[in-house]
Amino acid sequence: MNSIEVKNLTKKFGDFVSVDNISFNVKQAEIFGFLGANGAGKSTTIRMLCGILEPTFGDAVVGGCSVAKNPDSVKQNIGYMSQRFSLYNDLAVGENLDFFGGVYGLSNQKLNERKKWVLKIANLEGKENLLTGSLPGGIKQRLALGAAVIHQPDIVFLDEPTSGVDPISRRNFWELINELSSEGTTVFVTTHYLEEAEFCNNIILIDAGRLIAEGNPKQLKTDYLKNSIYEIESDRVIEALELLEKQNFVVETSIFGNNIHISVEEKFNDLSRINKLCEEGGITIKRINKIVPTLEDVFIHLLGNEKIL
Ligand SMILES: Nc1ncnc2c1ncn2[C@@H]1O[C@H](COP(=O)(O)OP(=O)(O)O)[C@@H](O)[C@H]1O
Ligand SMILES: [Mg+2]
Repeated sequence: MNSIEVKNLTKKFGDFVSVDNISFNVKQAEIFGFLGANGAGKSTTIRMLCGILEPTFGDAVVGGCSVAKNPDSVKQNIGYMSQRFSLYNDLAVGENLDFFGGVYGLSNQKLNERKKWVLKIANLEGKENLLTGSLPGGIKQRLALGAAVIHQPDIVFLDEPTSGVDPISRRNFWELINELSSEGTTVFVTTHYLEEAEFCNNIILIDAGRLIAEGNPKQLKTDYLKNSIYEIESDRVIEALELLEKQNFVVETSIFGNNIHISVEEKFNDLSRINKLCEEGGITIKRINKIVPTLEDVFIHLLGNEKIL
């Protein structure tokens, strides 16, 4: 069953097309990743799907309601965590939750029950009186997610929820996303951390408002990238990269820490040639092997290096 059905959704600001005729479906209870570089149109799309911003053209049915015709009904069925976390920094933790509970019209009894749950998932039990602005990023982020789903919506939209928090908090946050999804909530999440795309059931990638790839992580790796990828480890990655970039069998290059990934022409299958080239250039290679592409390889292939954050 689909939770979200998007058809020809378009947003123009004056002559500028921010979201360009995109269509896709999101299944119930899946973790759906919405990826793209800064300025690609992610937040604009989310705001249309939440009924906050009117589409210029096209429509989306979100939880059974049309965002073009019935935006106010959409708002009742969803939770939304905006890019800036949506909490009031100058309110205490408990006051923020009271506020969100009030917005969604929860009864006192329900609000108390749900507050307990949010405080638990945010590791804030007994700390209701702390000022929200004083919380560490990772905790605040969990509190914001809790506030966004305090009314137990069927669908939650998370706009770059893991931006600017440390890797451990990010990892824990994804566990929370998994829990929500396993309880039946549809999670629509944007991120520019490409490794997080691997945690999604399905993904779409947009660039300059246009949809350029879609599928599950496995499909993206097989459908969009036909060239083989080699991983090369060297202490002198920059020199190795410069040398390899010049070879005509090399299609794309990128750096991953101490490793280089090169994608090569389909017919190329000569590891020793790479070794020899580097040796002649005075570059020692520690290891070279053919790898299964990562999603990052796929996105670099689709977008080019400059758009990968
Ligand atoms: N209210 C607005 N008026 C004019 N341009 C806007 C407005 N909102 C967003 N844009 C433009 O639309 C494009 C997409 O923005 P956005 O959806 O915020 O991208 P993302 O969330 O992927 O970083 C950007 O070029 C941005 O400047
Ligand atoms: Mg954004």
